[in-house]
Amino acid sequence: MSAASEAANSAYSPYSRFRVGAAVLTRSGKVFTGCNIENASYGLTLCAERVAIFKAISEGEKEFVSLAICSAGSAYPCGACRQVLHEFAPELEVILGDGLGTKSEQLKLADLLPNPFGPGFKKD
Ligand code: THU
Repeated sequence: MSAASEAANSAYSPYSRFRVGAAVLTRSGKVFTGCNIENASYGLTLCAERVAIFKAISEGEKEFVSLAICSAGSAYPCGACRQVLHEFAPELEVILGDGLGTKSEQLKLADLLPNPFGPGFKKD
């Protein structure tokens, strides 16, 4: 969560003025961080979670254990991010926090996005 909090400082969010930071822990023990990066064409905005996980994947990491997300009010990840996270880590542990320690929550990605192919489905 401290890595996610630090990453939020790099947010480019002049339109929403909402800073988000994320930090994903790989099975190999590395941490990759991300922040939200907005665009005047708002749909092109990338959330902190996707930046973090895409940075990790582009560096050759594909196995993830947990993800910390830091924002004011400890916001939940959006639907698009839930779907992207599910692609690589359906069993991911998700930790939400506000960087102040006043509000935090730990849950499984499966609580936020059940397997769209049904409970028994596993990729090769
Ligand atoms: N945002 C994230 O980066 N992650 C979340 O979990 C929620 C939303 C960003 C997208 C946009 O830049 C801003 O927060 C407001 O929605």
